[in-house]
Order: sequence, then C-alpha cells, then structure tokens
Amino acid sequence: PVLRSSSEVRSVLLALHLHVRVTHFKGGWSLSTVTLIPGDGIGPEISTAVMKIFEAANAPIRWEERNVTAIRGPGGRWMIPPDAKESMDKSKIGLKGPLKTPIAAGHPSMNLLLRKTFDLYANVRPCISIEGYKTPYADVDLVTIRENTEGEYSGIEHVIVDGVVQSIKLITENASRRIAEYAFEYARNNQRSSVTAVHKANIMRMSDGLFLRKCREVAENYKDVKFTEMYLDTVCLNMVQDPTQFDVLVMPNLYGDILSDLCAGLIGGLGVTPSGNIGANGVAIFESVHGTAPDIAGMDLANPTALLLSAVMMLRHMGLHEHANRIQTACFDTIREKKVLTKDLGGNSKCSEFTSEICRRVQDLD
Ligand SMILES: *[C@@H]1O[C@H](CO)[C@@H](O)[C@H](O)[C@H]1NC(C)=O
Ligand SMILES: *[C@@H]1O[C@H](CO)[C@@H](O)[C@H](O)[C@H]1NC(C)=O
Repeated sequence: PVLRSSSEVRSVLLALHLHVRVTHFKGGWSLSTVTLIPGDGIGPEISTAVMKIFEAANAPIRWEERNVTAIRGPGGRWMIPPDAKESMDKSKIGLKGPLKTPIAAGHPSMNLLLRKTFDLYANVRPCISIEGYKTPYADVDLVTIRENTEGEYSGIEHVIVDGVVQSIKLITENASRRIAEYAFEYARNNQRSSVTAVHKANIMRMSDGLFLRKCREVAENYKDVKFTEMYLDTVCLNMVQDPTQFDVLVMPNLYGDILSDLCAGLIGGLGVTPSGNIGANGVAIFESVHGTAPDIAGMDLANPTALLLSAVMMLRHMGLHEHANRIQTACFDTIREKKVLTKDLGGNSKCSEFTSEICRRVQDLD
C-alpha cells in the first residue's frame, strides 16, 4: 500500500512499534510445550478450568492435547497411542486428568500402563493445609515420596501348593538409591529441611534393610538435609497425633500407597491434593488422583482444585515459580474467602464460576 501522508507513515510506524513491543513482552518467556491429557468423566471440564486460569496468569505454556486411552498395538500388545507417546517424549512434561480403565478383557490399568511406558518411578504428593477449608488438622505441611516401580507391587505372585500362595516383595539397590536421591534432591530444591525414611527393617531385615541402607548412603551426600528413620507403625501413630512434625517422607511402594492417601485425608481429601510422577529421562506427569466422577460429568459441578494444584506443582518443576505462586495464591484466596466455592468445598457455585473467580484474582495479582 502507498502511504499518502506523513501522519499515515507515523501511525504505521507506531503500530509496528507497538506490535514489536507486545510481541517482545509476550515472548519474554519462551513458551514451553506441555502434553495435556484431559482424561474421562469430569476430566475435560477441570482441564478447561486449568487452561483458562493459566491463560489469565499469562503462564508461558503451549498445550498439546492427547488421548492416552490404550490401543492394541502390533501383536495385540496394549500400548498408549503413538501420537501421545511422541508428544510426551518431546515435551517431557504432562498434565493429566482422571482416567477410567475401559472394561475390556485384559485391558491394563491406564495408570499402570503410563507408569511402565515412562518409567515413572517416584510419586510425589505435597499435603499442605488449606486455610479456610476446615479439617481436624491445621498447619499440615509435608510431602510423601513413594517408590512406584517395585516393592510389594512387583506383581510376582504364585501358588505354591493348593491353598498356599506367595507374593514377592522385590527391593533393588538401584531403585532404592534412585528414590532416595530424588527425595533428597526434592528437599534441597524445595527448601525443606528433613527427609524421613519410613520402613519396617526390624521385621523385613533384608528387603527394607536394603532400602534403608541406600537411604543412609545417599543421606551422606546431603549433609544440609536432616535425615531420620522411622518405623511405619510409629509414623502412623505420630501422624494422627500431630502431623506437623513431618517434612519429607520417603518409602517403598505399599507404605507409600497407604500413607499418601492417609496424608491427603489430613488436608481434606483427594479433591484438593496435587500429585506428581517423576520418570526416567526427565519425564514428569502431574495429575489429580481423584476419580472420574461420572455422576456429575458434564454438569459444570466439578472441583478443579486438585488438577490446578498439580499444574502449580508442574510449574515449580519447570522453574516457573512466579506464575506458580500467583496461581496458588489466587486459588487459596478464593477458598479462604468462601464466597465462590464448588459443592464439595461447601459452596453452591459451578465449576465455571469458581474458575472465573480464580482468573479474576490471578489478574489482580499481576
Ligand atoms: C480416546 O480414545 C478412545 C479409544 O480410541 C476412545 O474410546 C475415546 O472416546 C477417546 N476419548 C476422547 C476424549 O477423544
Ligand atoms: C544398577 O545400576 C548400574 C548402573 O546404572 C548398572 O550397571 C547395574 O547393572 C544395575 N544393577 C542391576 C542389578 O540392575
């Protein structure tokens, strides 16, 4: 186009200048790709809520949506769809809503399949009391780190003679060292002061003994983090008496499965508890651990808090602390104010209203 006047030239230059500034501002953070697995039931609604809040917070994330529901691969083997696998291999970071396991003969549990596909060896669950959401305990602030690949869940079971079965608890030096190292690294990177190894080495001398020995060895390399050991039963007793005494807890698979749900219960349940799964090769998948709630799916009644706090955990994992803090503050402020809450949190609002309230607060904090 031919520019006719100097004022036209000026306005074009101004527009260009503004465009460059805006692009520069938005590109101040380079966008990172995250594989989004919305999941089933209420999964799509709560995923939409998280995406809206991330947008309001200007979080530098580009979502790549994938369906991970298992398909039959060559030779009839169950696998996650190749485009989902490729996306995760590339992005290394996933955010996942609840998944149902289809009722089909031999269909594997979706969580088990994901765990195996990406060698997700650590399950991490921060349990932090939410101000304004009343539970029997206040000031809980602990993290459970569960070994997720072996132990009692190795899946090796057999019949010895009719009426007698045996189940193998598999503990390896490598997996024990790997989870211990992750726990100490996590403590160090998240300004936590102590790691407690939870075990029953007094009874299971060889298996838990090996696990404990590796924890002790790794602790030697992290002198800045206090290391303690406790029997599982003692932890349970002390946990219900005063959970505030605990910081980071690391343990084998079965103990972790039970204790992580117990700790979620201390702060109000799975609807408000975030979770992260750390895998080999730098892969990490963050997820809400509640169910798909098919009874309220599609009704705009779901509570997106657990998935949102998992997404906040993901931002921290990616080093995006400023965005993480802002979103978390907006979420906790909304819950504390009690004006706009979903039913399960004691309110009367829809998922979309709760989401809008958090978006509004996120923008105010900007
Ligand atoms: C995901 O894939 C499965 C199996 O192919 C299909 O049944 C399901 O409807 C898909 N889900 C979505 C949200 O597309
Ligand atoms: C343990 O890890 C080391 C180093 O990666 C490896 O060489 C060794 O084979 C592993 N041991 C077992 C029993 O898998």
